[in-house]
Amino acid sequence: MSGQSTRLSVNINKVALIRNSRGSNVPDLVKVAKDCELFGTQGITVHPRPDQRHVRYDDIGPLKEVVGTEFNIEGNPTPEFLDLVTTHKPHQCTLVPDAPDALTSDAGWDTKKHQSFLTDTIGRLHEAGIRVSIFLDPDTDMVAGAKAVAADRIELYTGDYAKGYHQDKEAAIKPFVETAKAANDIGLGVNAGHDLDLINLEFFQQNIPGLLEVSIGHALITDALYYGLQNVIQMYLQRLAD
Ligand code: PXP
Repeated sequence: MSGQSTRLSVNINKVALIRNSRGSNVPDLVKVAKDCELFGTQGITVHPRPDQRHVRYDDIGPLKEVVGTEFNIEGNPTPEFLDLVTTHKPHQCTLVPDAPDALTSDAGWDTKKHQSFLTDTIGRLHEAGIRVSIFLDPDTDMVAGAKAVAADRIELYTGDYAKGYHQDKEAAIKPFVETAKAANDIGLGVNAGHDLDLINLEFFQQNIPGLLEVSIGHALITDALYYGLQNVIQMYLQRLAD
């Protein structure tokens, strides 16, 4: 089979981090988003954090204006975050339970414990016409809970897959396959992200049934230092080709 069924969404947070380190507009985040699309990405992801060390709240409006593919905003649904998202209405919002001072996201939702909060939050996002994905560990027990709170998709947190890949990739991917199957069975879409890279991506994509989208930031932007953004996006797309 040729073609590609899993979309690549480039997370441009690390580009914003470089820009913020000098207080100027170099590199220009909006231009980078447009260029990523020109080079073939099928989505742009941003993760505004409370300390705004990466993408800032005032980046979201200008990005929404130019992103012509899929715009995905991920983050912890604080009141400020929800106001931002419902104002700018991206195509997708990915809810992540990360602490305000988290270095990076490192765990999915407990969909049972947070059922009422997630139901209210997802209801508000749906009212604004936004598709909602929720960050989940590879745990089949949490999948029914994701459906119960009316999420449209889950985003599998792939940190443990990336950690286990070099030791035993079959063992590392097993819980992800099971969780994806459980999601497929009840009509939940499946996204994935975190620590995916040029080495571990292809095996992941080939083994996860119905993988709709991957969002990749850290490794892709790092690889761009060596290969350039245009080449690197093509390399990631090639890993996703069926
Ligand atoms: N998904 C979520 C929820 C994240 O928080 C991140 C990191 O911002 C990613 C995906 C992308 O991870 P990485 O930068 O390791 O590719």
